[in-house]
Amino acid sequence: MDPAIVVGNAHPALGESVARALGVAPAVCTIERFPDGEQHVELTTSLAGREVYVVQPTCAPIGETLLTLLLIADAAWRAGAARIVAVVPYFGYARSDRRAHGGQPLAGRVVAGLFDNARFERVVTIDLHAPAIEGFFAVPMEHLDALGALGDALEPFLPANAIVVAPDVGAAKRADSIARRWKLPVAIVHKTRVSGTDVVAHRVTGDVRGMRPVIVDDMISTGGTLVAAFNAVLAHGAEQRPIIAATHAVLAGDAIARLASISPERLVVTDTLPIPTTAPFPITVGSVATVIADAVRRLHGGATS
Ligand code: R5P
Repeated sequence: MDPAIVVGNAHPALGESVARALGVAPAVCTIERFPDGEQHVELTTSLAGREVYVVQPTCAPIGETLLTLLLIADAAWRAGAARIVAVVPYFGYARSDRRAHGGQPLAGRVVAGLFDNARFERVVTIDLHAPAIEGFFAVPMEHLDALGALGDALEPFLPANAIVVAPDVGAAKRADSIARRWKLPVAIVHKTRVSGTDVVAHRVTGDVRGMRPVIVDDMISTGGTLVAAFNAVLAHGAEQRPIIAATHAVLAGDAIARLASISPERLVVTDTLPIPTTAPFPITVGSVATVIADAVRRLHGGATS
């Protein structure tokens, strides 16, 4: 029997693309709100004995999208689903993999615990900020890589004098992998986070003089990291008009305006979460739908990574 794809409410376009790529019609799931604010979820496609994949990035509003996912899982379980897999292309709280200070929660662990206590047999996610948070989960995880999709979307826009820039040390491995595809040089910016919105770039490793920066990160939240990285490489002789690329375009608050301040030639992202349709610079979106559909086909056949 075909896998059943349940499309959550956080990013219907992606869930529908995954279903299309698999050649199946999405299961019918209505998500409404009671007058008091509580969510009302109802699955009307029969899921008894089916393998069910629920596609729902836990993007903003995170508390809501996460709860919807858990409610859908419970509904599918009560409807007799044989296996339920959470497909969470963007995993909210993935950056909360450690406590910066005493008195803080380990939020990534708390959220992972919610998945463990739901009815999921497995969690599928993409480009986790810290892959080690897989260890927070009791259920197995399928960690997919969107670098191929991101690279395909980026390739037509690479200038001849491109240098791939990792905007912090944590992004160095990703920058290396993507640069290897076109044998491009790599530079690394060393940064310190000052607050949720501000970072300071200290120094740059690599020679960026006369090169066009292609800054690659796992996610863009407020845009602070990318702006600081660009200003750092600019101060070291890089050219204007960076190309910026990231798997997860969180683009919180005034991130678009912040990015516009460095006049990017283009922003290249994937569709792990909904992308704004207007910005004062071009945006190219590479889809992860086939990456997810391939994983569903593999898991449906019983294989795992
Ligand atoms: C942090 O280490 C991540 O890889 C990103 O660099 C960071 O989350 C981006 O956040 P923002 O856009 O707010 O600087």
